[in-house]
Amino acid sequence: MQIDTLIEAFDKGLRTLWAPAQTVRPVPGQAFDDVVLGTEERRESIAMMRINHCGEVCAQGLYQGQALTAKTQRIKASMAQSALEEGEHLAWTEARLKELGGEKSILNPFFFVGSLTVGALSGLLGDRWSLGFVVETERQVAKHLQSHLNRLPPQDQKSRAIVSQMCEDELTHAKRALEGGGIALPKPVKMGMSLSAKLMTSTTYWL
Ligand SMILES: [Fe+2]
Ligand SMILES: [Fe+2]
Repeated sequence: MQIDTLIEAFDKGLRTLWAPAQTVRPVPGQAFDDVVLGTEERRESIAMMRINHCGEVCAQGLYQGQALTAKTQRIKASMAQSALEEGEHLAWTEARLKELGGEKSILNPFFFVGSLTVGALSGLLGDRWSLGFVVETERQVAKHLQSHLNRLPPQDQKSRAIVSQMCEDELTHAKRALEGGGIALPKPVKMGMSLSAKLMTSTTYWL
């Protein structure tokens, strides 16, 4: 790996964690009126959006890590659109978190580095493994987002619109990676991924 690749990766990482994210599509749910949420509801919405924001930081880490070590250009190209949409998700969750008066998770750098490492390692295993990781991650994320739709206050339609669109996008990402040749991962790997996701969601709910 060349030194300029590493510098570029470092720069991307810093921007993921500390610069405002950009979006091409408008933030979903803007047509809904702002409603005043009760203290408990607002707290729950903030916690959900903080978890989702951290999830998107992890997605950045995963995709950036894979791009670092991907063996062929083909995988980079096929993942480029998904990576771009992950950047939009980052911007949407960040914007909503701010509107709700919440803070990003202080654990973001920790989970970013973890995801970057997993992404880079899966890239080293080859394209089919790498894509398999994307398929499984996106499926697990979509499941989480679905559960958040059950937990978000019904009147917080702005957050719900963001989470719904993200869920739809993640399923498209999974489909794209599967069609790209992603292999089914062994059960212990899937379980490990699900455990680390639990660690992330249960800590960033609070921090
Ligand atoms: Fe996403
Ligand atoms: Fe995704």
